[in-house]
Amino acid sequence: ITLVPDNTLITATAEEGRQLAVKMARLIIKLTQPDEEKRKQLREVYGNDAMMLIAVGQVVAAEFATIAAANNYWRR
Ligand code: HEM
Repeated sequence: ITLVPDNTLITATAEEGRQLAVKMARLIIKLTQPDEEKRKQLREVYGNDAMMLIAVGQVVAAEFATIAAANNYWRR
């Protein structure tokens, strides 16, 4: 399982950085729960729980902050 798809945190735009953040967050879940059937069951659980969705948002925000720093906040 490749955690950083192109082996780099550098992205052209902030929007691409945000997409990479979501991808990295999801890949960590896949690494920790490789069973696809179980992930499908748990999707039902977290998808219907506001607190868990907020937790998802926090994980993505932490990944995005790291990616943003690596990209010098996309300043030129
Ligand atoms: C679907 C993100 C945690 C299982 C999705 C989707 C997103 C997402 C964006 C919608 C994909 C789409 O419909 O195009 C995340 C993030 C997570 C997280 C950022 C954590 C930080 C989890 C966990 C599980 C899980 C904990 C179960 C263990 C699934 C499954 C789907 C899904 C089975 C449906 C897959 C599909 O339709 O292709 N997730 N998720 N996710 N997630 Fe999560």
